[in-house]
Amino acid sequence: MDNLEINGLTVRPCNEGDIANVLELESIVLAHLEHPDLLRRNTEEMWHTCLLPPHVCLGTWAGDTLVALAVLYVPQEGDPEALAPLLQSVDTKGHTTAHFKICLVHPDWRGHHLQVALGKQLHIEAQQRGFDLLCATVSPHNAASIRSLQQLGYHADRTIQKYGLERIVFFHFN
Ligand SMILES: CC(C)(COP(=O)(O)OP(=O)(O)OC[C@H]1O[C@@H](n2cnc3c(N)ncnc32)[C@H](O)[C@@H]1OP(=O)(O)O)[C@@H](O)C(=O)NCCC(=O)NCCS
Repeated sequence: MDNLEINGLTVRPCNEGDIANVLELESIVLAHLEHPDLLRRNTEEMWHTCLLPPHVCLGTWAGDTLVALAVLYVPQEGDPEALAPLLQSVDTKGHTTAHFKICLVHPDWRGHHLQVALGKQLHIEAQQRGFDLLCATVSPHNAASIRSLQQLGYHADRTIQKYGLERIVFFHFN
């Protein structure tokens, strides 16, 4: 994938060499959450996974500073993270699924619809790789993320308990 520009920021896939920037952005975002239940810290192991193929972690950079990222996660056979088997309102048979797993925007850079912009790029990536059903989970209290997912064409399916927290499962036919 070629580098892109959004609002003067550079968008490019992150790789394992960017792990320190990813962990720093996660810590800053977590420290500024309106409510701690909105987002759970990923393990470092999960971040390493997200930074390796077949997953895609799109980073948005202001110079050397990572200001936003979004992850397309490809669940593997028997993956306990798989969301498609949880969907109740649609028939998932014959569809190939990936997840819009996480999006982080640095508090100083919120309000520019970066989640929607990065989501659109991940949808193109997903389409090129043959993923025609995308799933996501979000806290029912996460108004900004729900609004962004709706703008990206996601629909709410059901509410589940994940990591001991309430999460809405969303889907989008890509
Ligand atoms: C969710 C997140 C990625 C969105 O960042 P963003 O792309 O900058 O989103 P914006 O700030 O542009 O907000 C998106 C929309 O939600 C609205 N919004 C933002 N905060 C809101 C709030 N507290 N209540 C209601 N609406 C809100 C914005 O007005 C905007 O709506 P609009 O399109 O009608 O203008 C960012 O808030 C974030 O990093 N949050 C913490 C991590 C997180 O929760 N990630 C998502 C789950 S993985």
